[in-house]
Amino acid sequence: MALRLGDVVPDFAADTTDGRIDSFHAWKDGAWAVLFSHPKDFTPVCTTELGTVAGLKPEFDKRNVKVIGVSVDPLDSHTRWVGDIADVTGNALNYPLIADPDKTVANLYDMIHPNASDTATVRSVFVIGPDNKLKLTLTYPASTGRNFLELLRVIDSLQLTSKHSVATPADWKQGEDVIIALSVSDADAQQKFPGYVTKKPYLRITPQPK
Ligand code: BEZ
Repeated sequence: MALRLGDVVPDFAADTTDGRIDSFHAWKDGAWAVLFSHPKDFTPVCTTELGTVAGLKPEFDKRNVKVIGVSVDPLDSHTRWVGDIADVTGNALNYPLIADPDKTVANLYDMIHPNASDTATVRSVFVIGPDNKLKLTLTYPASTGRNFLELLRVIDSLQLTSKHSVATPADWKQGEDVIIALSVSDADAQQKFPGYVTKKPYLRITPQPK
């Protein structure tokens, strides 16, 4: 069955370009993580995506997010491909890429959508919290590269809303005003978010909490 938000994500062991991982959960070690799949090695969109994420690695680090890619090709193929990623994008791969030739990870995370392809994964993204629970999923087709700045943006929202009783509005970015959660009464909102603005009884705006 497909993974759903709030599920504890499956643990697995795998070979990667950074060596063997005996337990994905142990590798995460209480951090946030992004696990993202690539349909195939030596393909154009995937090459650009892996290099883009390598360039953004400091941004993921700042947020205490570990990134890890997965492709169903074997490790020797990944090792040969890595040079192309640096050549094309100027960014050397600086996070592990899982080799998943027997599709263990792809199947555990339901990354193969047979009506798209029987053999290659779609472009899945899983954002996993420190509690190993699934916080967000994205699914793109093979032909569309992902927007990783959007991924950082939603991670900012996930991390903020995990700490404070707020939600983030459409197109919200770090530092912008947020919405007070519906679960917070007006009386509690006065205490927690003094000076908040009521646009509608159900839509109360406050500056982003620190
Ligand atoms: C790509 O990465 O460019 C790609 C991979 C599989 C199918 C189509 C495109």
